[in-house]
Amino acid sequence: MQKITITGCKSLRGILQLPPDKSISHRAVILGALSDGKVKVKNFLESEDCLKTVRVFKTLGIKIEKKDPGELLIHGNGLAGLKKPARPLYLGNSGTTMRLLSGVLAGQNFEVKLTGDASLSKRPMGRVIEPLRLMGAKVKASKDNNFAPLTIKGENLKGIRYRLPVASAQVKSALLLAALFARGKTRLIEPAKSRDHTERMLKYLGIRIDIDGLKLSITGGQRLRAKDIYIPADISSAAFFLVGAATVASSRITLKSVGLNPTRTGIIKVLKRMGAQLEIKNRATRNLEPGGDVKIGYGGLRGIHIKGDIIPRLIDELPVLMVAASLAKGKTIIEGAGELRVKETDRIKSMVINLSKMGARIEEKRDGVIIEGVEKLHGATVKSYGDHRTAMSMIVAGLSARGKTIIENTECINTSFPGFLKTLKILTFL
Ligand code: S3P
Repeated sequence: MQKITITGCKSLRGILQLPPDKSISHRAVILGALSDGKVKVKNFLESEDCLKTVRVFKTLGIKIEKKDPGELLIHGNGLAGLKKPARPLYLGNSGTTMRLLSGVLAGQNFEVKLTGDASLSKRPMGRVIEPLRLMGAKVKASKDNNFAPLTIKGENLKGIRYRLPVASAQVKSALLLAALFARGKTRLIEPAKSRDHTERMLKYLGIRIDIDGLKLSITGGQRLRAKDIYIPADISSAAFFLVGAATVASSRITLKSVGLNPTRTGIIKVLKRMGAQLEIKNRATRNLEPGGDVKIGYGGLRGIHIKGDIIPRLIDELPVLMVAASLAKGKTIIEGAGELRVKETDRIKSMVINLSKMGARIEEKRDGVIIEGVEKLHGATVKSYGDHRTAMSMIVAGLSARGKTIIENTECINTSFPGFLKTLKILTFL
């Protein structure tokens, strides 16, 4: 078991380029593989999860070469270019791979079995299985047809009209991918806007997709035109440093070329509303994904109410925002975030248990938390619960805590942010 000990730091200072975006990296491989030629992916995230997606598409017969570090050359083979794999596909911890891939496999003319690790096998898959079945796919799952392993037998799909019961980019993306293989039009309605990287990348690669607020429609059989894809830094990885700098005295950092897609920038909005000194410079858009440099300094955070449509725009940042709220003046209420309970671990539970051990005044609610800020946290021994974002959030909590914080089971950090500790050391001179 790997564990990390943090004994606090004086400040976070420096200018840094953080690792590439995980969501966009997955999509670059999937859409690159389905495109009609060579796609160069620049600044690809070589984390465990994203490398699972690469391995899977190689097993499905796609040639993917690693050129330089962070550079892939994907030899796209068109919509009909995948081959039946000789063995079940193991996806480790990666929920994005399992859900998006289900959409692609639903449109193939072969059967595949998808498996995952213990955490992935406990995450709800019914949310993709049900609409894929409506499109005509044959999908089998275990335990109430909701959990991996999944067996997907591709069929001739037909377009559907479907209202998503949860704001989930993974479900939406699985259905958009399946729609590429379907006869006719697929119309989707989201309950709230979730991240739209799939839509942007589809458009960028020449697909006609109509988007009107929460309504989307796409017609099957369109060709994806191969084009190079550049991936910006991951705002979800940046979040740990944004909160670190906002909560450790005398900090001032600049994070370069961070992805600033408006469906992901809830963290920026919330930190500003909490009173953080934050500014964005050098805005630029590449392959329809906006980005820019984010500067932040230490500053008196105050508690706020976080709820409603902003939740899907910062769902992955809520654990580290709980750390910020624990150190803010006054009360923070997070509600409508029940989805946190079905992530890599139950992130409401994991954060409430861990932060309470460090002296935070945090109360667990059904779909969120109530936090009354305290002046300082104190060190304790806490656990990742096998969840990368819980692990990194607790490391951030340790940075300003009194005494020693030990975070156990930190291997999971590699699923999204290999080199997290190294990066932290650069900024904190630890
Ligand atoms: C992701 C979507 C989100 C997010 C996950 C990555 C994606 O999940 O929590 O880390 O890449 O589409 P949901 O779509 O299930 O909300």
